[in-house]
Amino acid sequence: MKVLAGIQPSGDLHIGNYFGSIKKMIERQESDSVYAFIANYHAMTTVGDGERLSTLTMQAATDFLALGIEPEKTMFWVQSDVKEVLELYWVLSQFTPMGFLERAHSYKDKVAKGIHPHHSLFSYPVLMAADILLFDSEVIPVGKDQIQHVEIARDMAIRFNNEHGDIFRLPVHQVDDEVATVPGTDGAKMSKSYGNTVNIFGDEKMIQKTIKKIVTDATPLEEPKAYENCNIYALAKLFLGPSELLALQERYKTPGEGYGHFKLYLHDVMWEYFRPYREKRAYYAAHQDEVRDILKAGADKARAIAQEKMQIVRSKTGIAY
Ligand code: ADP
Ligand code: TRP
Repeated sequence: MKVLAGIQPSGDLHIGNYFGSIKKMIERQESDSVYAFIANYHAMTTVGDGERLSTLTMQAATDFLALGIEPEKTMFWVQSDVKEVLELYWVLSQFTPMGFLERAHSYKDKVAKGIHPHHSLFSYPVLMAADILLFDSEVIPVGKDQIQHVEIARDMAIRFNNEHGDIFRLPVHQVDDEVATVPGTDGAKMSKSYGNTVNIFGDEKMIQKTIKKIVTDATPLEEPKAYENCNIYALAKLFLGPSELLALQERYKTPGEGYGHFKLYLHDVMWEYFRPYREKRAYYAAHQDEVRDILKAGADKARAIAQEKMQIVRSKTGIAY
C-alpha cells in the first residue's frame, strides 16, 4: 500500500507525537511503501520568520531520521524541493469550488481564534490535495483535524477524473482510533499549544524538570496509591512491557514510596528508551551535510514521479501545446 505522510516542521517533537503517529509511521516502513515529506510550504502559513523555518526544516529532517526513517526504504524529502506540487496546486484550484474551502473546519477554527487569514491559509487544503494526488497515494494517516482535508482531496480527484479520465487515484484517510491520547504533564492532551509536553530530545536536566512538574494527587508516602488515573503511570505505561507494568502497579499498591520515586523511575525508563535514537540524532546533528544529501536523493526520486504525473495533467488540461 502506498502511504503518504506530510509532516509540518513545527518545533520540538514530544512523546505524544511519537506514540500518536511517528512510531506507527516508522513501523509501516516494513509493510508498505511510505512516502514521507516535510511540509515546509504549509508551515509558512504559521512560521513567518524565514530563518526559523529553515532551521525547523532541518530539525524535522534530523529528528525523523534519528527516530527511524530509513531512506533506502522510504522516500523522504522536503516539499519545496519538488516544485511540481505548486503547479498541480494551481491546476487543482480549477476543481475547487469556493464552498469546499469556506467549509474547512481547520480554516474556520483558526479564523475563530482571531488569526487574520491570508489566502495561503484559505487555500491550504488545495496544496495538501496536490501533495496527495501527485504521488497516487492510497492511504493518508492523519489526526482527526486533517480528515476533512483528505476528503477535499478525494473530491477534487473525482471532479478532475470526471472531466479528464482516470488520472488520479482516490485517497482515503486513516485515523488510528486505537491510539490513546497521550496526556501531558497536567493531565490534559499533550500538545505544544498547551505547554505541557515531555520532549523526546530535550537534554536530561530539562526532561527531569518537566517530569517533576507532572501533576499528581496528594496521597502521602505511607499510603497505597491508585495507579489507574495517575499521570505518571499513564506515561510510564508507554515505555513498559507487561511484566514491568505489573511490577510498577505493585509499587503503587505498596505503601512506602511516593510520586517522587515514580517520577524518577519514569525519567529512567524514558531516558533509556530514547537512548539509541538520541545517539543517532547526535550523529545526524554532527553530519548535517549527510542529512541534506538524503533529502536531495529523496527529492530526486519524488520529482521523477511528480514529473511523470504532471506531463499527463498538462496534456489533459491544455497546458502542454
Ligand atoms: P501538537 O498538538 O503538539 O501541535 P501536532 O498537532 O503537530 O501536535 O500533531 C502531530 C501528530 O502527533 C498528529 O498525528 C497527532 O495526532 C499526534 N499527536 C499529537 N499530540 C498527541 C497526543 N497527546 N496523543 C496522541 N497523539 C498525538
Ligand atoms: N496538513 C498536515 C498537518 O498539519 C500536513 C500535511 C501537508 C499533510 N500536506 C499533507 C499530511 C499531505 C498528509 C498528506 O498535519
